[in-house]
Amino acid sequence: MARAFVTGWPIGHSRSPLIHKHWLEMHGIEGDYLRHPSKVADFETFIQSFQQEGFLGGNVTLPHKEAACANIEKTDATAKRLGAVNTVWVENDTIIGGNTDGYGFTANLDEFAANWCDESRLKRGALVLGAGGAARAIIDALMQRGFQKITIANRTLPRAIELREMFGKPCCAIAYQDIKDAERNASIIVNTTSVGMAGSEQENETPLSLNGFASDVIVNDIVYTPLITPLLHEAKTRGMHAVDGLGMLLHQAVPGFEKWFGVRPEVTPELRAVLLADLGETS
Ligand code: ATR
Repeated sequence: MARAFVTGWPIGHSRSPLIHKHWLEMHGIEGDYLRHPSKVADFETFIQSFQQEGFLGGNVTLPHKEAACANIEKTDATAKRLGAVNTVWVENDTIIGGNTDGYGFTANLDEFAANWCDESRLKRGALVLGAGGAARAIIDALMQRGFQKITIANRTLPRAIELREMFGKPCCAIAYQDIKDAERNASIIVNTTSVGMAGSEQENETPLSLNGFASDVIVNDIVYTPLITPLLHEAKTRGMHAVDGLGMLLHQAVPGFEKWFGVRPEVTPELRAVLLADLGETS
C-alpha cells in the first residue's frame, strides 16, 4: 500500500493526517498517511531509510526541519535557501527535500486576498512579526513575490537582524517599540509569533496594536488555533481585511501529496470544514 508519513517530536497534535486521508479518500487511492514519532537521536536514521519501511515520502516538522536539510541527499532551491525541509519524496532512487511552507502562505493569500501582490502593495511593503523558522519561509516567499520592503519586527532584535543579514535587501530589522508611520504604511502584516495562540501564556494578547495602520492593510496570522486570533479579531473590529492561518496549513500539503500519490489535490471548502470541525471551530 502507498504510504506517507509526518515525522516530528512530539507529533500527536499534527493535523496533517486529516488532510491527506481526506484527499486519499476523495481520489479513491488505496493509501495511508501516518504519524511517525522520531526523537532527535533517531531522526537521521529514519529520514535516510524510510523507503525500507515502506514509505514513499512524507512531511518533516519540528524539531527536525533543519536536520532534514542537512541529512538528505538533494534539496530543492527553496529548501536550500531556507536551510529547512518540510517535505521529502523519492525521484530515481534519490531522496529529495523541499520546503512548501512559503507556497502554503502565498496560496492562502492568493485565495483569500487576491489583490495582495498588486504593484502598489508590493511598493508599500510588508511587516513581518517574529523572526523564527516560520518567519524565514514567509520572508523568502514575500521576496519571491517582489515585495520591495520587508520589515522584520521581533521582541529579540538580534534575531531580526540575523534574518535581515540572511536575506539582505529589501529587509530591515526593527524592535516593536520603534515601529513608526513608515512601517504602518505596510500593505500587509503577517504574525509568525505564538502570541495569541490558544494554550500559550499570551493567548489573549496581540503582538502589536493595529492603531495607525492603513485601513486597507491585510492582516494575516499564521496561528490557526484559535482560527480568529486576538490580532485578527482586532483587524476585523477595525474593518481591516483579516486572513486566518488555516489555509496555509492546507495549501502547504498540496505539493507533497502530488509527489507521493501522483495527483494534485485541491483545497476545497469541504476539506476546510473537516479541519474546522476538528479544531472545534464553527465558522
Ligand atoms: P517558529 O520556528 O515556529 O517560528 P520560534 O523559532 O520559537 O518558532 O519563534 C517564535 C517567534 O515568536 C519568535 O520571533 C519569538 O520572539 P523572540 O525571538 O523574541 O523569542 C516570538 N515570540 C514568542 N513569544 C513571544 C512574546 N510573548 N512576545 C513577542 N514575541 C514572542
